[in-house]
Amino acid sequence: MPNGKLTRLPGLADIHVHLRVPGGEHKEDFSTGTAAAIAGGFTTVLAMPNTSPPLATRETLQAIQQQAQAAALCDVHFYAGASPDHLDELPVLAQETVGLKIYADQTYGPLRIGNLATLLRCFQTWPRGKPIAMHAEGRAVAIGIGLAAAFEQRVHLCHVSRADEIALIAAAKARGLPVTCEVTPHHLFLTEADAARLGPFGDMRPRLATSADVDALWAHIDTTIDCISTDHAPHTRAEKLGPDAPPGVPGLETALPLLLTAVAEGRLTLERLIALMAHNPRRIFGLPEQPETWIEVDLDAAYTLSDEGLHTKCGWSPFSGMAVRGKVEHVKLHGALIFENGVFIHSTKRTRS
Ligand code: NCD
Ligand code: ZN
Ligand code: ZN
Ligand code: ZN
Repeated sequence: MPNGKLTRLPGLADIHVHLRVPGGEHKEDFSTGTAAAIAGGFTTVLAMPNTSPPLATRETLQAIQQQAQAAALCDVHFYAGASPDHLDELPVLAQETVGLKIYADQTYGPLRIGNLATLLRCFQTWPRGKPIAMHAEGRAVAIGIGLAAAFEQRVHLCHVSRADEIALIAAAKARGLPVTCEVTPHHLFLTEADAARLGPFGDMRPRLATSADVDALWAHIDTTIDCISTDHAPHTRAEKLGPDAPPGVPGLETALPLLLTAVAEGRLTLERLIALMAHNPRRIFGLPEQPETWIEVDLDAAYTLSDEGLHTKCGWSPFSGMAVRGKVEHVKLHGALIFENGVFIHSTKRTRS
């Protein structure tokens, strides 16, 4: 029962999603995470490798691919994780993944690449021309740009969130360096004031920034920014309310309504939204075409985002309570209508590396 006329868009691609398999299935799994993706208008997701064990070996990749095949509702592709213990596996992993993910700083666990020698080995080993995505904050953005220049390697900078970072990336691009970047909806629509209001439910890496940082990101929305990705990073309410609450917030189901609201407000065009959420992600990561695949949105549907009815296993959103305009009504994937007026009507199982 759509309120208005429907507008057809290409299926969106989210290049930064934590689906939590293996090892974090109490937070999310392939079925709940990809249901959240479809409900949010994404027909392709790129899954991050910071799982337990991390996606840093061929054995783990094969096991995860099988699980995705059995349970995923949309197309799922994987990043290889750069682990100091398994650098020898990178050439094999490169054949079946969309990119290498390097955690250059600000993270925990076995995927942190702490020293320069290991970073260099990653760049020497990974095939040239296949993207290396970096979790890089602050000064580490300059390291990523320097490596892109030195190795003539494509570097994709994840979740850029600060005015200084986006200015540096703009300068690198003006020099013709092979760098691309993404920003998340939480860094475009929330500030440190929201972080204070939300407590652990507004804590993620990079942290929410000042309104001046947010303004700087918006000033680059038509130029320096290549992609909008969610960094969908679900954690349970209990984890968020406990000691040592882990950083990360979900985002698959709220990204498109938030961005469509910005379109309604004249902050970007619908054409630019499609470039940022569909065409550029597919081009940068060389994602396969999805024939007979589209989404239909009601651009006029006005409502308030809510925790009710979310498909993500974590069941909450930092955006709940925000008024938005624009709703996903239909999703067709590989010829099958799987989502109709907000309800799943089919389940297809598709996955590729
Ligand atoms: C991520 C997570 O929960 O996996 N959290 C986050 O705050 N973005 C980890 C990460 O991407 O650094
Ligand atoms: Zn990150
Ligand atoms: Zn992430
Ligand atoms: Zn219908």
